[in-house]
Amino acid sequence: MKSVMLSGQVRKPNEMQRLILTTFVGIMFGFFLGVSFPSHPLAEKMNLEAPLLPPIDLTYIEDKYSGLSTQALLNAWSTLKGRRVGPSKGQALNDTKVWVPTNPRGSERLPPRIVVSETDFYRRRLWGLPEEDLSSKPNYLVAFTVGYDQRYDIDACVKKFSDNFTIVLFHYDGRTSEWDEFEWSKQAIHVSALKQTKWWYAKRFLHPNVVAAYDYIFIWDEDLGVENFDAEEYLKLVKKHGLEISQPGLEPNSGLTWQMTKRRENSEFHKFTEEKPGWCPNPVLPPCAAFIEIMAPVFSRNAWRCVWHMIQNDLVHGWGLDFALRMCVEPAHEKIGVIDSQWIVHQSVPSLVNQGVAEDGKAPWEGVRERCRKEWSMFQDRMADAEQVYFKSLGFSINNTARYPTQM
Ligand SMILES: *[C@@H]1O[C@H](CO)[C@@H](O)[C@H](O)[C@H]1NC(C)=O
Ligand SMILES: *[C@@H]1O[C@H](CO)[C@@H](O)[C@H](O)[C@H]1NC(C)=O
Ligand SMILES: *[C@@H]1O[C@H](CO)[C@@H](O)[C@H](O)[C@H]1NC(C)=O
Repeated sequence: MKSVMLSGQVRKPNEMQRLILTTFVGIMFGFFLGVSFPSHPLAEKMNLEAPLLPPIDLTYIEDKYSGLSTQALLNAWSTLKGRRVGPSKGQALNDTKVWVPTNPRGSERLPPRIVVSETDFYRRRLWGLPEEDLSSKPNYLVAFTVGYDQRYDIDACVKKFSDNFTIVLFHYDGRTSEWDEFEWSKQAIHVSALKQTKWWYAKRFLHPNVVAAYDYIFIWDEDLGVENFDAEEYLKLVKKHGLEISQPGLEPNSGLTWQMTKRRENSEFHKFTEEKPGWCPNPVLPPCAAFIEIMAPVFSRNAWRCVWHMIQNDLVHGWGLDFALRMCVEPAHEKIGVIDSQWIVHQSVPSLVNQGVAEDGKAPWEGVRERCRKEWSMFQDRMADAEQVYFKSLGFSINNTARYPTQM
């Protein structure tokens, strides 16, 4: 992800020479094809020999296979063309068209067994047999959104995650290769885009189909103290208590906003809390139940598939998401909870907040904070509207303004 080379963008000085060679090879190639194709049943049936030749651009092929000699390419091609592809002789042409409506949208023209709609972050080798590439397949993923200044905190964090985790770093400050001072960084996946937020990255790089290999995904801030946390132990408890969306308890230090996420001593986990008078008109709804915060959430695969769809492209701070997570699991007050016996400390290191711009006499962080609040109410309004429209379409109206707490 760090650098993308677009073939065709950079033309080298020896291009003329290459063009001549290419043309020559092209002629030879065409000759071989012409000689060999008429005997192929598909070619006869579909009259392929003419249309197939011109679109093959060897320059392009050579660009893509820059390490291979032309002879090797020709050899590879002659092996391929000997194979039977497509229908056999005698079948009507209209039988040969693939259209599978149950395929993922856009892939209907492909035979289902070739369709690959999900992927993972497993790094592969460039050589050897593909099936022997992977010595392990981590089944959990943790993504941190980081600046280089927080590297020691993140290093400490990563050490609390076993080899069963794929580590993903989203870099908001453009400093990526410097992380290789840590051995684990060389195995990690690095994504860099300047001054973007955790939810911006999550929306773009953690699509459910992209992280489909992982049973649980952690989408964490960079300023968490993890001295009393171990990811494997944490997940044992998550599984034991059937939590689809969870977070570790927060050490009750200054700046704690919600009772729900406060760590309880001598407790393994909790799903309910009491709040200040009047904050919880409904005891099974946020912020008294079915609620965690957005700084250190952990999602099951299924829960994430839903939550990803709820993230708005433009509301990058994610404020207000925590109140809506409950919509993704049922019953939410049973499947959302806080693990007390593996807990973290929210260190509130100002980081991305300082990446704002000073404007109208306001400090950078003020502008960012203002936007966070604004996004919260925008998200609430969108959700309320969406529900309203949906229920209206079913023929009844609801008043759901009361279902979301107003922001403080
Ligand atoms: C192939 O197309 C013809 C003409 O459109 C049609 O009559 C025939 O039923 C089609 N065959 C199949 C197997 O669909
Ligand atoms: C990794 O996962 C496997 C299978 O779930 C488990 O047996 C192993 O103990 C885990 N590794 C660590 C370090 O916990
Ligand atoms: C919806 O409920 C709120 C609070 O109960 C109330 O203030 C508001 O007027 C109601 N809106 C409508 C359209 O009935």
